[in-house]
Amino acid sequence: MLHELNPFRPGAGVRPPELVGRQPEIDLVDLMVAKSRVKRNDGGLIIYGLRGVGKTVLLNELHRNVERAGWVTIQFEARPGSAGPIAARQSLGRGVAMAGRRMTRFRSAVEDVRTAVSTVSSFALTIAGVSLNLGVAPSDHRANSGLIEVDLEELVADLAGPLQKNQSALAIFVDEMQDLDADLLTALLAVQHKATQSDWPFYVIGAGLPTLRRTMAEARSYSERFALHEVGALTHDSAIEALEKPARELGARFTRDALEEIVRESQGYPFFLQTYGKAVWDITPDRNIDIDVAVAGIAEGNADLDQGFFPARWDRTTPAERQYLRAIVDVGGSTASTAAVAEHLGVAAASVSPARQSLIEKGIIYAERRGYVSFTVPNMDRFILRQPDADS
Ligand SMILES: Nc1ncnc2c1ncn2[C@@H]1O[C@H](COP(=O)(O)OP(=O)(O)O)[C@@H](O)[C@H]1O
Ligand SMILES: [Mg+2]
Repeated sequence: MLHELNPFRPGAGVRPPELVGRQPEIDLVDLMVAKSRVKRNDGGLIIYGLRGVGKTVLLNELHRNVERAGWVTIQFEARPGSAGPIAARQSLGRGVAMAGRRMTRFRSAVEDVRTAVSTVSSFALTIAGVSLNLGVAPSDHRANSGLIEVDLEELVADLAGPLQKNQSALAIFVDEMQDLDADLLTALLAVQHKATQSDWPFYVIGAGLPTLRRTMAEARSYSERFALHEVGALTHDSAIEALEKPARELGARFTRDALEEIVRESQGYPFFLQTYGKAVWDITPDRNIDIDVAVAGIAEGNADLDQGFFPARWDRTTPAERQYLRAIVDVGGSTASTAAVAEHLGVAAASVSPARQSLIEKGIIYAERRGYVSFTVPNMDRFILRQPDADS
């Protein structure tokens, strides 16, 4: 009975029993909603951080909150590689179509809504080839240029009035935003910029790897229109709460030293906390989780991480890529300069750049600063050192 109630849930995008330490982002979006009700737009939000820190569950939480506030939303995950741009446009086109369908139920200003829906139809058709049957023909002069930035801006401009009259707004949620193609990314940033200037109720809320910080810095004039929030390891107190509260609600308790040990080992990383929490819960003989259970659970949890979390990345690499990863560990630990990596491997930088590029596309490393690469997950360096075939 106790074991079946295990509240801890390691897994990508899986909602934790207690979403701790993310109040600043939740409050910021609540404020966005409040301001938009008085026709004020101070811009969108970008959340960045390593894998496993809780970006996706936070994005989902924010999405739920604005939907509850009556916003019309579109949510999709960007994908790397050559199929990415088409997939993103399909998602956007379909999302806009659904938004249009919802808007046909808006009360008030029938003429405005008809115009907006006609632009929606034209946008969905132009960007994704989606034909809508909303009782209004696609506009023959709005959102049909085939230039994503122009079309998106016209769409948002035409939706602004009806959305505002209905105390609503349009928000686009993009996960894995670092994988968005440059055209679509620029369009989203530019239209957020324009919406902020014009107080149109339109918001881009994105999440992705720390690369986004650089991307935003390079898009300087637009990036002022975004709050940039890094999410990372939880503070000590939040990490304690993430373990203690769900347990308490089920009538179980951790001893103080057990909590401290788990938090220390996890370094506050949400995915690790969930993994260890789940493991200790699975092995505890009763409702009291003491230091012995914690130590055994951590070992169990580490074995799980070595079976799942880390190999999910490592197993997808080629021998040449593994050499590259091993060299990062040897020269830098979790971050290394690409020049030092090439030197360590005894080759010219250009000859290892295909391996680097492919590792970036696989989401295993990222280039936060020019000339440097880092692992996308915490503790990947330690995992690599444990691999028997690290040198092969
Ligand atoms: N604030 C939090 N408190 C506790 N656990 C969390 C928190 N945020 C995320 N988690 C857990 O961490 C894991 C990774 O979350 P996820 O959103 O997939 O991370 P990311 O998208 O950054 O890779 C999940 O198991 C989730 O339940
Ligand atoms: Mg995620």
